[in-house]
Amino acid sequence: MRVLGIETSCDETGVAVYDGDQGLVANALYSQAGLHARYGGVVPELASRDHVRKLTPMLREITAQAGGRIDGIAYTAGPGLVGALMVGAAVARSLAYGWQVPALGLHHMEGHLLAAMLEPDPPQFPFVSLLVSGGHTLLVDVLGLGVYRVLGETLDDAVGEAFDKTAKLLGLPYPGGPALAKLAGAGRSGRFDLPRPMLDRPGLDFSFSGLKTAAMLAWNKSDKSAASRADLACAFEDAAIDTLVRKSLRALQQTGRTTLVVAGGVGANRKLRKTLADAIGECGGRVHYPRPEFCTDNGSMIAYAGYLRMKAGESDSGGICVRTRWPLDQLSPP
Ligand code: KG4
Ligand code: ZN
Repeated sequence: MRVLGIETSCDETGVAVYDGDQGLVANALYSQAGLHARYGGVVPELASRDHVRKLTPMLREITAQAGGRIDGIAYTAGPGLVGALMVGAAVARSLAYGWQVPALGLHHMEGHLLAAMLEPDPPQFPFVSLLVSGGHTLLVDVLGLGVYRVLGETLDDAVGEAFDKTAKLLGLPYPGGPALAKLAGAGRSGRFDLPRPMLDRPGLDFSFSGLKTAAMLAWNKSDKSAASRADLACAFEDAAIDTLVRKSLRALQQTGRTTLVVAGGVGANRKLRKTLADAIGECGGRVHYPRPEFCTDNGSMIAYAGYLRMKAGESDSGGICVRTRWPLDQLSPP
């Protein structure tokens, strides 16, 4: 079975084809980062229009590259920006109608959650997943396909959002997360002492707005030199990573699981990947990651999640319907 996946929930146009026998056979990604950079964040209307511009030529290229028949089309139906989601949904549904194949609208975070399964030696259910993106910070107990128990989530900003806002404060270009991580590499640890939010409280929820504010206060009090910028970026990254690592360990302990699967854009952060691998390895557990380009938004994760659900016989009613908000634990198995 071959499934075409379409991702357009935010500022990346992703298209891919997953084949049950051959794995990923085609995969293309276009990032709108350059388009939004001058505004310091994603402009929803520009995002929708750019998806319209890019999606059709990308689909033509990817289907030619994959060759052969497509058996089903999976697309991101939410959560995300409404106009951007509508582009993917309308194109997916129209193609499915034209090709007379089933279509299925998917939850964007389910795509992220399963992305590590595209790697060699994939994780097996059950596992705990740390989902860290621009819109979400979640710890999830993953019992099987579509069976997700949210263990903890952010009470305010998502960790990626905190990275982006702190980067903006330090005058770094959009998208801020990777730029801040790069700058942090040139900084010294320990010069600024930033809080580790929610670590002193029991439970698995997160909060990142206090850390963001503490970084802002420290920046405003500093001499704003290049060295201070790098040192503060380093302190911010250390505090965010420390919080994510310690809560992840706590989640493994509470559930009795030994496998952690990281997903979402912040999962591309090299220091987070190394720190988590060391900490979980020390406890006898194992951590799985998607390759860095499959941590951020992409079509491959949607093609793969769609393949798993469609192989199990799932398709949906046929309307063009998207959801800007969609709690992950409302999903069900195929
Ligand atoms: O999953 P994603 O591509 O989009 C959402 O669904 O939100 O995640 C994007 C987020 C942004 O906040 C971006 O700054 C962050 O992931 N990000 C990073 C890194 N690469 C991307 N944050 C920290 N370090 C990175 N290397
Ligand atoms: Zn995402």
